[in-house]
Amino acid sequence: MKRNVLIGITSSIASYKAAELIRLYKKGGDDVKVVCTKDTLLFIGEKTLETLSCNSVSVDLFEKRQNTEHISLADWADIFVIAPISANTISKIASGIADNLLTSVACAYLGKNKPIYVAPAMNDGMWNNPIIKENILKLKQYKINVIEPTTGELACGTYGVGKMAEPSFIYEATKIQSKINKKIVVTSGGTREYIDPVRFITNASSGRMGNKIADCAYSLGYDVVLISTNDLTKPYKTLKAESADDMLNILKQEFKDAHYLIMAAAVSDFKVKNYQNSKIRKNDIKNDSYSIELSLNPDILKCIAQQKTSNQKVIGFSLTTENTIEIAKQKLKEKNLDFIVANEAKTALNSDNNEVWVIDKNENTQKIDMASKEQIAKSILEIVL
Ligand SMILES: Cc1cc2nc3c(=O)[nH]c(=O)nc-3n(C[C@H](O)[C@H](O)[C@H](O)COP(=O)(O)O)c2cc1C
Repeated sequence: MKRNVLIGITSSIASYKAAELIRLYKKGGDDVKVVCTKDTLLFIGEKTLETLSCNSVSVDLFEKRQNTEHISLADWADIFVIAPISANTISKIASGIADNLLTSVACAYLGKNKPIYVAPAMNDGMWNNPIIKENILKLKQYKINVIEPTTGELACGTYGVGKMAEPSFIYEATKIQSKINKKIVVTSGGTREYIDPVRFITNASSGRMGNKIADCAYSLGYDVVLISTNDLTKPYKTLKAESADDMLNILKQEFKDAHYLIMAAAVSDFKVKNYQNSKIRKNDIKNDSYSIELSLNPDILKCIAQQKTSNQKVIGFSLTTENTIEIAKQKLKEKNLDFIVANEAKTALNSDNNEVWVIDKNENTQKIDMASKEQIAKSILEIVL
């Protein structure tokens, strides 16, 4: 459906990325108008914005014209996306300040209960400033969707958090028409069980399936927390866990107020019994052999599912090499799960595609045929949510 998209731009090195964002909305069939702060035009040319949006660019609050533009733009827009938004404009909007055209539009728009998204871009020092953090929280409290910046090389030459999300991501995220006030916790990746400070036992899980589920849940408007064994930067909350014990500890906290847990991580069944505090040296090995004793890890899924209330659903994964459906059904019962997604090592590992079976509490089984993990993620969520 064609929308009136109002793009706000503030002065940042990332302002040039707004050009690509305008192009994406236009290509998607939307009407686009641009409102920017005066200093933005030091970073990107007015002609570029005008040509790409097919509309004149609005900058000056007091320009001679017939109507009150800050009100007419707020009325015109079906959706308002400010990308990039500077620390300065974040703070002004959080305080209700309306001292230029962009902040005046925002002030009028926020009273109209329509969707608004902001994509911050700034130096990591600015992003970590407690005042800016507090102002970001304030925006969120007023239902302003914050598309979190990512970590990477920043324009100032440092490496840190503050890089604006990519235009394609912003475009996708703003397709979410309304936020669903439900929290989904997703886990992904293969856990690491350390033998000594440098060596560990792990498995072949890449984390792709869980990551796609988390991305897809986010784009559906859920509040997502992804607990992964990989280092990830996402526009939603991500937490790093290494071992099964780590993952369980984080989950105990995150599951308390969650509505769903989707446990796609491959958690090691075993951990090393006698962890060595310093690196094991070749010289320590006698008779060419070295034994590692393993003990069982806690069964995270069972442990969390035992704690679930009637408002919470727990979805597990089962990866097997044979008797796929049978084993999955056993786990479903044993662990008190709401759904289990069964898949096989030969299709699931080291691949961008997969085929799965989704089994509910009553053992009704739906097969999802071979497709990309992104497509599989969408189909799983359609069934379990
Ligand atoms: C080269 C340069 C790059 C800047 N990049 C950013 C930025 O990425 N994020 C930010 O918050 N401020 C940045 N600033 C500072 C803002 O431009 C400044 O705070 C300005 O007052 C913001 O005004 P505005 O919000 O009205 O556009 C930058 C300034 C300069 C000179």
